[in-house]
Amino acid sequence: MILDLIPESTRAMGLGALMKGVGKVTRFLPIPQPTLLVGPGSSARLGQAVAGFGHTKILIVTDAIISKLGLLKQLTDALEAGGAAYVVFDEITPDAPIPLIERGIEFFRQNDCDAIVAFGGGSSMDASKAIAVSISNPNKTLRQLAGYFKGLRNPVPIYAVPTTAGTGSEVTVAAVISDPDRKSKLVIVDTRMVPKMAALDPSLMTGLPPSITAATGIDALTHAVEAYIGHWATPQTDGLALSAVGLIFENLPIAYREGSNLQAREKMSLASTYAGMAFTRANVGYVHAIAHQFGGRYHTPHGLANAIVLPHVLEFSMPEAADRMAQLAIRAKVADESDDDDTAAQKFLDAVIAMNAALGIPTTLAALKEADIPALAKAACHEAHTGYPVPRYMTQGECEAMIRKLLPAQAAGDSAAAPASKPAPRRRAAAKTDEAAAPAAPAARKPRAKSAATSNAPTRTGRNPRTG
Ligand SMILES: NC(=O)c1ccc[n+]([C@@H]2O[C@H](COP(=O)([O-])OP(=O)(O)OC[C@H]3O[C@@H](n4cnc5c(N)ncnc54)[C@H](O)[C@@H]3O)[C@@H](O)[C@H]2O)c1
Ligand SMILES: [Fe+2]
Repeated sequence: MILDLIPESTRAMGLGALMKGVGKVTRFLPIPQPTLLVGPGSSARLGQAVAGFGHTKILIVTDAIISKLGLLKQLTDALEAGGAAYVVFDEITPDAPIPLIERGIEFFRQNDCDAIVAFGGGSSMDASKAIAVSISNPNKTLRQLAGYFKGLRNPVPIYAVPTTAGTGSEVTVAAVISDPDRKSKLVIVDTRMVPKMAALDPSLMTGLPPSITAATGIDALTHAVEAYIGHWATPQTDGLALSAVGLIFENLPIAYREGSNLQAREKMSLASTYAGMAFTRANVGYVHAIAHQFGGRYHTPHGLANAIVLPHVLEFSMPEAADRMAQLAIRAKVADESDDDDTAAQKFLDAVIAMNAALGIPTTLAALKEADIPALAKAACHEAHTGYPVPRYMTQGECEAMIRKLLPAQAAGDSAAAPASKPAPRRRAAAKTDEAAAPAAPAARKPRAKSAATSNAPTRTGRNPRTG
């Protein structure tokens, strides 16, 4: 609220410094990690392990499509073989709304469950987290649990089997759910919601339709990119983010064209998990801040919204993030060491635009209405400016202009719907108009050591958790 009273230019000036300061404090927050089981059949291995943990009854939370496709079978066979009792709640819908999660909570109670296996995409995993935290903290509503560490008691144990690649929710501290009355998304953040164990089983993903493969894959790319260019990045999140970007550029086009390619599916699962580990520490940025508003208001699938917005935010951020984008370009194998930062950064932006096109991602948002743009931009800026350590801050006016480029009518005869594939080269001493928007951004951030790109190490120390 106080933020709203400060003039926009002053606010932008202070935000960069403030966010860097917050990052210094929160980087030591311990974030637990699940035991990871990886490879075809790992959902059965997770079932074997969970059956041995002595739970009274396990609630499997999933959606009807996954249930009908028979994807639960390996898990449930293993639970039965191990003598574990379970029940299935398969009503989750995309961006699960509060009333639906309340039904899941009631189902958990009626069946005297004491653990959850979250089985599905981000919507099923996040609904599971919300159920788990609510069961342990019955004195609070889901709305009251939104925010940081609002539940006093530990959530019930969660085990996760992601079926998209993806949100990375199997390793993150966040649960994103929908508040239909307010046409917005709620985020619950608690390090204790991180699943105890997760299975990355590519055999569950071979039937994922190409459009969902594309959108969820770009969500993972966005997590990695936003974690890497933001101010809370650490050497460990850098290694994870770069690994994810390399894997995604190599494998997402294959998984999209050839859904049954198990190797590409497995590598995309790993990339999604690495990107999740990176952003749960280093946080996300404007792409997510804007995409969340599209999801809340228009029910745009999360990955699709990110994919449409990503090139525009990269283009805006480039004057303050060229060195970091250059590293991403090299890891994506679209630039090499001989390119200067500006050239390599531009190549990265071009490659993201080309990948979106190859994956059939539109350049505009069909549901977007001109009249909604001021409110969307205001909410997006509020979300970003109260928590995201972005490399370059934008004013609400700049945010509105960016969103306006996504209007479908304008797109018909106007190539501005997507950033020009080759805008004029940018220099760090950017145009005058940039100064008010990003005065607090660092004068120069040295390119990080390229060797950081090789680490896939799943252990981390570091900073503040976040949603994606
Ligand atoms: N908690 C986090 O850290 C985090 C991070 C990013 C996104 N999210 C949230 O996750 C949600 C989006 O999750 P999502 O993108 O994984 O999509 P989703 O879970 O909404 O699933 C999308 C669709 O894909 C189908 N599907 C899933 N797996 C399938 C499979 N293997 N085969 C066939 N169909 C399958 C589902 O039935 C559904 O219709 C959003 O609410 C978003 O805000 C959370
Ligand atoms: Fe995301």
